[in-house]
Amino acid sequence: MPESSEKSKKAKNAVARPRGFYDILPEENEYWRKFHGLAEEILLAYGFAEMATPILEYTSLFKRTLGETSDVVSKEMFSFTDRSRDSVTLRPEFTAGIARAYIEHGMFNRPQPVKLWSFGPLFRYDRPQAGRQRQFHQLDLEIIGSSQPAADAEIIFLAALICGRAGLEVSVQINSLGSPESRREYLKILKEYYRAKKRFLCDDCKERLGRNPLRLLDCKQPACQEPKKDSPQLVDNLDEESKQHFVKVLEYLDESEVPYVLNPYIVRGLDYYNRTAFEIWPAVPSSAGEEAAQIALGGGGRYDGLIETLGGRPTPAAGLAFGVERLLTEVKRARPDWVAKEKPKVFLARLGEEAAKRSFLLFEKLRASGIKTAANFAKEGLKAQLELADKLGVAFTVILGQKELLDGTIIIRDMENGMQEVVDSAKIDEELKKRLAKKID
Ligand code: HAM
Repeated sequence: MPESSEKSKKAKNAVARPRGFYDILPEENEYWRKFHGLAEEILLAYGFAEMATPILEYTSLFKRTLGETSDVVSKEMFSFTDRSRDSVTLRPEFTAGIARAYIEHGMFNRPQPVKLWSFGPLFRYDRPQAGRQRQFHQLDLEIIGSSQPAADAEIIFLAALICGRAGLEVSVQINSLGSPESRREYLKILKEYYRAKKRFLCDDCKERLGRNPLRLLDCKQPACQEPKKDSPQLVDNLDEESKQHFVKVLEYLDESEVPYVLNPYIVRGLDYYNRTAFEIWPAVPSSAGEEAAQIALGGGGRYDGLIETLGGRPTPAAGLAFGVERLLTEVKRARPDWVAKEKPKVFLARLGEEAAKRSFLLFEKLRASGIKTAANFAKEGLKAQLELADKLGVAFTVILGQKELLDGTIIIRDMENGMQEVVDSAKIDEELKKRLAKKID
């Protein structure tokens, strides 16, 4: 079938997902919940407040901050004109929206720095492939209002900590992009160097040479690796202040025992960075090979000019975002048992309509008393319910029947030997706890 008719068929098919968009099914969601919980616990302890910005922003916000020549703005934004003829865009990243909110809500009046985090979906119209989706999610951290190297280091320390707690070994690939002025000087040298090698470059890089020469350094095409090897390096062309800043960030990382690799090719794909730039890579090359290990799980850096670009006061800041899908793919590979589920200990079964009506409150009583309980409120018939209890491997089944309901009792069935006892239903939680404790002994 020709591609165009295949495409239109898909678009008309109401039960097909758009390309590059994914469902997160219940089994998968266990990982998401655990990861969000882990991030929340750590970030709260380190004084970060969670906030949410709209998924939709005016297009100009991203054009002004990410850079017209960046891949994201030049070809990856989901932009459209709304009914008021305003151009709006599904957010491709968090930082610009958070910076806008910082200005709009006068957050510069709060004690500085303001430490924020966000979690949610982002949209980039890229070619879908492994690790690259059109809708993906990020965990984003920002420290706004500090020019100290400690802020860059705190962000990187937390990135490593979060990965470590998720069972991942990662390596921090770090570089310094210097000040906008020192970078301008460096770009002249870089262009000069590459101009002589233009004919060896891939088509994209030939174009980058004119539009966005810094990106020549992170091209992954085989043809561009050789010229890259001898290219002049940013770190050799830093202004004095940026150099000092970089050294201090590295000292913090040394003292905090965060392993890092100085990588002169980390330049980042968004325009707003200055000084520190880094990416988080999986430390162990995955079975998919060396290249897969270079897929960034996250990236970030310092962006001292961004808030001023948006009309705010000069406000230094640093941040990071993890790609949650990429990170969880690594977690599943490295730690298949990461979300081992706690099994229920008790099953609640009931017989007859009156007992069924009581079962919600009884279930809630057991749950609230801390007993891990399961039930299937839709299943009729004791046999089917006991089979289910057996399958779940519970120690006891609590059976609420018509007769028991009338005399205020309830049956506890030991699933190991089938023995049944009738107990006072008011004391069911205590009775179960006693028996469960014995099983553990
Ligand atoms: P970024 O490098 O564009 O940075 O994205 C951060 C991470 O998001 C990437 O390392 C990757 O894991 C994930 N990611 C990006 N695009 C996709 C995609 N199409 N599919 C799946 N995952 C993807 C930023 O977005 C900056 N705002 C980070 C930052 C925060 N800088 C300062 N503060």
